[in-house]
Amino acid sequence: MGPGAARENQRSPLSALQNGEAMRNITTYPNLIELSRQAARIFADTAARAVKERGRFCVCLSGGGTPRTLYSMLAAAPFRSEISWSSAYIFWGDERCVPPDHPDSNYRMARDSLLSKVPIPAGSIRPIRGAAENPAEAASEYETMLKSFFDLNSGGLPRFDLILLGMGPDGHTASLFPETEAIEETRRLIVANRVPKLETTRLTLTLPVLNNAALVLFLVAGADKAPALKGVFMETERDDRPPASLVDPQDGDVMWLVDQEAAALL
Ligand code: 6PG
Repeated sequence: MGPGAARENQRSPLSALQNGEAMRNITTYPNLIELSRQAARIFADTAARAVKERGRFCVCLSGGGTPRTLYSMLAAAPFRSEISWSSAYIFWGDERCVPPDHPDSNYRMARDSLLSKVPIPAGSIRPIRGAAENPAEAASEYETMLKSFFDLNSGGLPRFDLILLGMGPDGHTASLFPETEAIEETRRLIVANRVPKLETTRLTLTLPVLNNAALVLFLVAGADKAPALKGVFMETERDDRPPASLVDPQDGDVMWLVDQEAAALL
């Protein structure tokens, strides 16, 4: 495999997407840089299609460390000028219960690596209020905002054009950690999820919202993710499958962009 080449177990994800084919697949890249470059290409193309078809691009960002490379690429040539930032609306899939300037804040990471570097209107950036004294209140506020923004009637679900997700070594995604209550949530759009093993509460979108996306893009890199990735793609017992494997939009696509280290056990 040449440098930059990707090992695809199916047709190129980009061409399949461009042809409007439904797809759930995994593509392996030599490293995080190559993986992030492909993710940036998919991000920009998805944005262009959404703006052309619906006049706006609604994207849900992921936190953690992996997407930082992608965000930096989106803030630079060639992607920065390709994306119609004035038509983009930015949301988050989850947030830690910390102020927006805290080093752990997912909002802060996206602000510093991307949002402070592109011409996006401040009102189009919709962070989750991690600093709230009462996380459940912050969840309720965000749910109200989502329902208003997406003009939802009761029971309706927001449909994001793109949701970026990562995966932890334990197979969590967003802040849907194994054996936590949020995984079972079927009614609310976002909840405050107690995560005992971290001795903290996280704010996270729920599976109904993630599974209503037009496109979910997982970015997974690093050897520590290999066992969980094997669990996603090779575990058959539902109970043993990691939370990330529960993200599979019925009326949308899910694409896994992974590096070779993470794919080592597949
Ligand atoms: C978070 C993310 C979380 C993240 C995984 C992977 O708030 O941390 O939403 O789901 O995507 O923990 O994190 P890394 O990219 O840092 O490995």
